Amino acid sequence: MKKSTLFMTVASVLASVSISLASGAVSLPKGYEKWERSKQQVVNDKKSLFYGIHYTYVDKKAMNAYKSGGPYPEGSRFVVVQYGIRQEGGKPVQGKKSMIVLMQKDKRQKATGGWLYAGFTPEGKPSGIDPVKNCFECHLKEAKDRDFVISRYADFR
Ligand code: HEC
Repeated sequence: MKKSTLFMTVASVLASVSISLASGAVSLPKGYEKWERSKQQVVNDKKSLFYGIHYTYVDKKAMNAYKSGGPYPEGSRFVVVQYGIRQEGGKPVQGKKSMIVLMQKDKRQKATGGWLYAGFTPEGKPSGIDPVKNCFECHLKEAKDRDFVISRYADFR
């Protein structure tokens, strides 16, 4: 009896490992730091998900569509790097890196408008988010007519 319980535990641990490996197959694109980067974006609203300071990186493939407001070619990528914030003498000061998010155009991702959504820890490890509940619902609401990309090139520089 004990043995089979142990086996079940091991099996379910293995199952969850393979699930997280499957979703962990997404990794942060190499060299995104060299893509075109937005100016520093400061969000002072404590209720916002993006409360803090962030930068948006856009790859070459996405750039033309970004300028025109979409739609985006397969493979287009955006990365946002988010930092904490603190006020120093009335000025916002960049704190520690707190999260990284990725959107990558992937037509297989039908439940999320043809984009793959992924979240990462500051070290770049997958953070295990639910792409529909944690990401797409908001992007759908905010930017349905711009292929779900919320930021605009005009605000970029
Ligand atoms: C509550 C709403 C909301 C949720 C939830 C949300 N985002 Fe966003 N996202 C935004 C906003 C607003 C921007 C634009 C920020 C700016 O203007 O710099 C954005 C921008 C982005 C961008 C840059 C491309 C773009 O659309 O401008 C990526 C990549 C991104 N989000 C990924 C994600 C991922 C991955 C998740 C889930 C972990 C997520 N987002 C959840 C609101 C949201």
